[in-house]
This record gives sequence, structure tokens and C-alpha cells, in this order.
Amino acid sequence: MQASEFLRDLRREIEEHPAVNHVFLMRVGTTPFTREDYRVFGLNHYPLVGTFCRYMEHLLLRAPDSESKSWIAKVLVDEYGEGSDGEDHAHLYRKYLTACGVGPGEEDQEPLDSRVAEFIREHMRIVTEEPFLVGLGALGPGHEWAIPKMFVPIIDGLRRAGFTEREIVYFTLHTMQDQDHGRWLEEALSIMVRTPEQAAQVRRGAMLSMEARRKFWDGVQSRVVRWRQPVHLWDVRERLRLWAGRHQPRISQLSPALGARIAVYRPQVRAAAGLEPAEG
Ligand SMILES: [Fe+2]
Ligand SMILES: [Fe+2]
Repeated sequence: MQASEFLRDLRREIEEHPAVNHVFLMRVGTTPFTREDYRVFGLNHYPLVGTFCRYMEHLLLRAPDSESKSWIAKVLVDEYGEGSDGEDHAHLYRKYLTACGVGPGEEDQEPLDSRVAEFIREHMRIVTEEPFLVGLGALGPGHEWAIPKMFVPIIDGLRRAGFTEREIVYFTLHTMQDQDHGRWLEEALSIMVRTPEQAAQVRRGAMLSMEARRKFWDGVQSRVVRWRQPVHLWDVRERLRLWAGRHQPRISQLSPALGARIAVYRPQVRAAAGLEPAEG
């Protein structure tokens, strides 16, 4: 089978996917959002930035041969900060949050949309339980191909809101760096995909990731809408939801249905990915 043909079709499928062309991204690109809107967006997006390396590390351990390991390692080294003056990407993102007005520790106080936790839970499942090629499909095509496209309208919106180039370097860096990462992982895929079954695994991983991403943007959008309509003192159900989230230490114990009803905070999400709860 022709791996190059399959990869070309898959790239087109990703570029046309509703997650990459989500209505929230189109709105960000054209609507004059404020720094406060971007603060809510950033607080919900930040947990994803901190867990990407963890997914890659799982895949690195599971890669079947040294050739595919070296492609994954190459991407990881960049994510750790090799291509960004030694600053890892989560650290760069924290600088953007500071520019949005997020004070020290505030990133752990924000109740997250349940779809943020769902995204991380789904990707941890993919990289630990699904076949290796499903994982590579989720992180290569599902992330590195999709991100440069999704960030274009975000960068337009951030510039319009008055952010300086230094403040949004996380986003501008990724529109360039992830094109390299996408190419490197494509190289790995073109070596590894030899049969239609293998191609189907890669595509399955990419589509699982895209579907989680589509729901994630739904969640971010609903958070941005919601911050303009704050919880009233008398809204007992919402108060209870926020309180219950603060006292619920592990999201892995929550069923998805219950998770949607209980607020989840960043330390719980990080713990679900096997990371220290409080670090950036
Ligand atoms: Fe990155
Ligand atoms: Fe990347």
C-alpha cells in the first residue's frame, strides 16, 4: 500500500475537520474579544499544554524500534525547550497567562470545563491502552498537523486584543515549530505504515483525538460565555458543583457523567496524567 497517498488524504481530512474549523476559533479570529476572554480561554487550555509531553513519553516507551523512537525523541527534545531558548512550552504558556492577568497560583483555582478533563483522560487512554499506531495517529496528525492551523485565528484575535509579540510567543512559535514536528512524525509514519490495517489504526487515533478536540473547543466556548454571567450567590446548585470539585481529589474516580456535574481543577487533571499536581 502507498503510505504517502494515505498520509496526504489524512492531512486533508484533518484540515477539514470540524475541530480544526470550530466555530469558537472562527469567532476568536473575527470577534473583538478582550484580555479577560483570553484569560478564561487560557486557563482552560493550559492543562493540555502541560500534559502533551507526558503522552509523548508514553509513546516513546512503547515505540517498536529505535528508528521510530528517534523521531518521537526528536519532537520531545523540542517540546522540552531545545527549540525555544531552553524554555519548555508549558513555561512559555504560563508567561502568556501572566499577560492575561493570571496571578501566581490562580491557574489552580479556576474550575475547568469537564471537557478539558475528558480530553486528557481520552489521550492518556489512547497512549497507554490503544495500539502504538493509534497513539501515533493521535499525537502526530491529531496534534502536530492540527495545531498550526488552529492557532492562526487565535493569533489574529490575540493581536487584535492588544497582546504584544513577546506575550504570545507560545502561539507564534507553534505555528512554525509544529510544522517541523508534524513532518518528523509523518516521516515516522511513512516508514511504519505498510498495510491497510496499520493505516486504519493511525486514522482511528487521529479521529479520536479530533473528536476530543471538538468537544474541548465546545467546552472552552461555553466557559468564555459563562464568565460574563457569573454565578449568583443564590445559585445553590452551581455553588455546590464548585465546592464538590474542590473536595474531589481524583478525576479518575469520577464517571464521565458525574465528572460533567462536578467542577474539576487543574491539580486534579494533572494527577490524572501522572504529573505533580501543582507544577507548571
Ligand atoms: Fe509544544
Ligand atoms: Fe509540537
